[in-house]
Amino acid sequence: MQTELSKRLGVEHAVFGFTPFPAVAAAISRAGGFGVLGAVRYTAPEDLARDLDWMQDHVDGRPYGLDVVMPAKKVEGVSEADVEAMIPEGHRQFVKDTLARHGVPELAAGEAAGWRITGWMEQVARGQLDVAFDYPIKLLANALGSPPADVVARAHERGVLVAALAGSARHARKHAEGGIDIVVAQGYEAGGHTGEIASMVLTPEVTEAVAPLPVLAAGGIGCGEQVAAALALGAQGVWLGSVWLTTTEADLHSPALTRKLLAAGSGDTVRSRALTGKPARQLRTAWTDAWDDPAGPGALPMPLQGLLVAEAVSRIQKHEVEPLLGTPVGQIVGRMTSERSVQAVFDDLTSGFERAVARLNRIAGRP
Ligand SMILES: Cc1cc2nc3c(=O)[nH]c(=O)nc-3n(C[C@H](O)[C@H](O)[C@H](O)COP(=O)(O)O)c2cc1C
Repeated sequence: MQTELSKRLGVEHAVFGFTPFPAVAAAISRAGGFGVLGAVRYTAPEDLARDLDWMQDHVDGRPYGLDVVMPAKKVEGVSEADVEAMIPEGHRQFVKDTLARHGVPELAAGEAAGWRITGWMEQVARGQLDVAFDYPIKLLANALGSPPADVVARAHERGVLVAALAGSARHARKHAEGGIDIVVAQGYEAGGHTGEIASMVLTPEVTEAVAPLPVLAAGGIGCGEQVAAALALGAQGVWLGSVWLTTTEADLHSPALTRKLLAAGSGDTVRSRALTGKPARQLRTAWTDAWDDPAGPGALPMPLQGLLVAEAVSRIQKHEVEPLLGTPVGQIVGRMTSERSVQAVFDDLTSGFERAVARLNRIAGRP
């Protein structure tokens, strides 16, 4: 599974893996893919430095990258406390009532809300970059929008390629105009923040829109046949996120959540604003149902919703309150039916890819 892009980055397979877990990212790079560590949950730069040190020691010299979340719209001079103050009381009460209805216990005294994500704030993301550029990362990816011009320039000075996620050809063109090197075309099926266009439609649209820039196909890819399909549609590689969540190297801290993921079918996710305020695909739970219910107050816009629900989500996760327990995950969750090592996922991807190529060759009448 080699393309011009995988050769340029010095990896054996054109398979890029996004993951919030350093052990998974390192295992992806060791397996011959390209591991990308999600930085959004690292509020403290020293925690990111600790995990990048660990990655350095565990990638066997293979290349890897980092993913940050810098929203396109810059909010100047607004602190987390200012944002907190904008949350309406009625929404706070709705959170309390929903938790009470499901008997969700409090956090222990002094226990911080671990889920508190502030990495979307530009000042936090910039702190992450200051750390990351001290490491030999080969790729910097940005989630919500085009990265600022000075960040692109800083990356390029260090020989770091810049990628950005796009859910439409229009977004992809904007990224290309901003001087990035790779577009990740992420379809509707994907876990996390998604647009409304399915990968089958999006991949060729984006590939044509930004040619000759390389495009990675993301969303709904979990087997080698799907990798072959993405490459057939013009992508120079694939970008997988969900499939790593049930690998043995992943550290979800919740056996109940792993069980839920393994049991879920492809129809058990929903694109909901419950978690961050922007539509993000995740497991459908009683929590997403409550926020998506027209009789409720509805989710607040980003970043208010993320701050509003941070403690609640931590409580649900720590106490494994099953009806409410969820995570971002894509429709490919239906194929995630057993815990496997990252290497086993790669073995499956390469053998499925070979089967698909052989099948197409037979159909095309080639020996
Ligand atoms: C648990 C989870 C968290 C995610 N968080 C981010 C993120 O912080 N930044 C980002 O660029 N993409 C994030 N994504 C999206 C992935 O980068 C990727 O595009 C997506 O998972 C691909 O589709 P798939 O889920 O069908 O594999 C996340 C996905 C999942 C499943």
